Amino acid sequence: MRKTKNLNWADVTPRADWINRRALIAGAGAALGLGALPAAARIAAVPSAYSTDATPNTLKEITSYNNFYEFGWDKSDPAKYAGQMTTDPWSVEIGGLVERPGSYGLDDILRNATLEERIYRFRCVEAWSMVIPWIGFTLASLLDRAGVQPGAKYVAFETLHRPGEMPGQRAGGIDWPYVEGLRLDEAMNPLTILATGLYGEALPNQNGAPIRLVVPWKYGFKSIKSIVKITLTEAEPRTTWKALQPREYGFYANVNPEVDHPRWSQASERKIGGGLFAAREPTLMFNGYAYQVAGLYAGMDLAKNY
Ligand code: MTE
Repeated sequence: MRKTKNLNWADVTPRADWINRRALIAGAGAALGLGALPAAARIAAVPSAYSTDATPNTLKEITSYNNFYEFGWDKSDPAKYAGQMTTDPWSVEIGGLVERPGSYGLDDILRNATLEERIYRFRCVEAWSMVIPWIGFTLASLLDRAGVQPGAKYVAFETLHRPGEMPGQRAGGIDWPYVEGLRLDEAMNPLTILATGLYGEALPNQNGAPIRLVVPWKYGFKSIKSIVKITLTEAEPRTTWKALQPREYGFYANVNPEVDHPRWSQASERKIGGGLFAAREPTLMFNGYAYQVAGLYAGMDLAKNY
């Protein structure tokens, strides 16, 4: 299994490149919900040993090909409509089996966070993938602040429910709000982050502003966006996709090339941005993060616990 390599800021994408890229897409900025951010808006973050050395997708790819069903079913809907979502003020209610339950304001969360850049592979259950340079902090650090009680075994997350700003929530299909969950040891794993930015700037709305989960060894649907609630529970939470289609989407949803989705193979993936004729790439066990996370599932039948 390949280990990850430590990277410097400069290794990611030279800053001038980002700025040029941003200038290029400035015309589309409003549609992308990006706006032209001044240099002061750039987020200072330290590089991480957990970053992959794979080349990140472009900002344009990351912000224009999205799944965020609160804004529609098409990959281009989030970039079109997520600008309607108000993300300031924002707070996250942390409750359930914690010592210090309450409403944690985003400013307060960020003031107490050590922001890192994490360049992660991202693999959607639909068999496409990207490489994304997130800015974020460990979920463990926030849960430690709230104080996890001994009885807690799972963490449930909820997305904003605001049909007035989210056209997809006015349509049917999903029992809103979107809910996801992790086992507590998965939540505490150092790879699990809450992202608040990408490419060194605040997270665009379509990517789950202002704060979203990123769990790089699991299919993308676990990485819930625009989180307003985190609850520590004893029982496995009822999660959106598992509740909708339990045979197709399990609670674990670990990336696994050997366990196919009932309707398609998971053995390979299409890298976004690779072009029409690019060969599919083999999917890696735990999306390439087996070295860090395989131990969490020792002794478990991964075909049953999919
Ligand atoms: N979170 C919410 N609230 N709503 C969603 O529809 N889609 C999920 C996940 N988180 C989704 C969500 C899916 S299926 C994927 S693949 C990723 O977000 C996509 O993240 P991205 O658009 O930033 O690449």
